[in-house]
Amino acid sequence: MKRVDDFRLRLGKHELVPIMIGGMGVDISTADLALEAARLGGIGHISDAMINTVADRRYETKYVKEKLALYKYNVKNEDKAAVQFDLGTVVEATRLHIDATMARKQGSGLVFINCMEKLTMNAPKETLRVRMRTALDCGIDGITLAAGLHLGSFALIEDHPRFRDAKLGIIVSSVRALSLFLKKSSRTNRLPDYIVVEGPLAGGHLGFGMDWAKYDLATIVAEVMAHLKAEQLDIPVIPAGGIFTGSDATGFLEAGASAVQVATRFTVSEECGLPAEVKQEYFKANEDDIVVNEISPTGYPMRMIKSSPAIGDGIRPNCEAYGYLLDANGKCSYVTAYNREVAAHPEARKVKVLDKTCLCTHMRNFDLWTCGQLTWRLKDTSHRLGDGSYQILSAEHIFKDYQFSTDNKVVLP
Ligand SMILES: Cc1cc2nc3c(=O)[nH]c(=O)nc-3n(C[C@H](O)[C@H](O)[C@H](O)COP(=O)(O)O)c2cc1C
Repeated sequence: MKRVDDFRLRLGKHELVPIMIGGMGVDISTADLALEAARLGGIGHISDAMINTVADRRYETKYVKEKLALYKYNVKNEDKAAVQFDLGTVVEATRLHIDATMARKQGSGLVFINCMEKLTMNAPKETLRVRMRTALDCGIDGITLAAGLHLGSFALIEDHPRFRDAKLGIIVSSVRALSLFLKKSSRTNRLPDYIVVEGPLAGGHLGFGMDWAKYDLATIVAEVMAHLKAEQLDIPVIPAGGIFTGSDATGFLEAGASAVQVATRFTVSEECGLPAEVKQEYFKANEDDIVVNEISPTGYPMRMIKSSPAIGDGIRPNCEAYGYLLDANGKCSYVTAYNREVAAHPEARKVKVLDKTCLCTHMRNFDLWTCGQLTWRLKDTSHRLGDGSYQILSAEHIFKDYQFSTDNKVVLP
């Protein structure tokens, strides 16, 4: 019987254990988690979501405070168009995070950065260009372009000296999205080095509508592989979303996938950036506690635990400090929804906003518990302790369980 360790992912000159830990913003997939994957011979991701905020927490900078001081005059203004990121601070923050991470890298694996293109930051093109170029400058092994795939992204870095040497990958959820991207980026004469095919059971934002349950990862993966074959393209395909055991992963590898991307199992690892008490919420969640809703202002459905404090919370938008989701015109659908509620309830001290959430503030505070559909199975991956809590696992334990387990088994710590 085969297991994941019988396969290897070839990316250029690298031969890797075919396990990639997916990017989880905001600093849920920490440097420590990504570095463990690399040390064990696989691929880990850090994320550049809310990078200035992450830098403040990790490297004692004060970018958020400084930005807020600059735009404080605008806090009560409904129009957020004036609130701009200083691209210099985006460079500095990105540099701090990547330099600190890459300096500690050990082992034969790789560390990539997850770049969510839907973080439009009030200047989508300019900020994305700076984020990607800085990542390349700092020697990141690769960039995975996620959520909101911007068809012109490769062109933003095509004149960078590392454009052809760094690994560049994309996340898609359909053949249609893939073929559009390939068509658009063919002008740069540079194909992606890998394609993550994310199915409907993944955590974070979904590349599907609210009819996500109609879709199935294995079918989309087969369609993507057929499309690549028809186009005579040899690009590694990496399925993601609901791959919970080593056997699940082996099934995809036997069907021709080059690796798997996994995330949910690692949300309860020591190295994961979620606070300890939130990790217990992930362990405790039952199947009917996991919902997909449309409260993310990105416009994509998102999966989360339904007791997330972010749901329904009517916090005042904090774009002057954060503002990562402002579009090119300085608009965010949470700001619109919040203003609507304030206008409808002028006497209320605090309003409720049910249809949208302030993603920046709540992701920053770990109050939006996004998760994969199979989170409810996490309790079967650990021991329940005397006090009712679950034993936190090491990333190494989870990684090796994927790598070596068979028979749909999950090895307990
Ligand atoms: C807590 C959490 C946060 C996530 N955040 C992101 C993100 O910021 N960007 C992204 O591209 N994918 C994100 N994802 C998706 C994962 O990278 C991965 O593709 C997917 O969850 C894999 O499915 P699994 O969780 O069932 O293993 C997130 C997933 C989880 C569980």
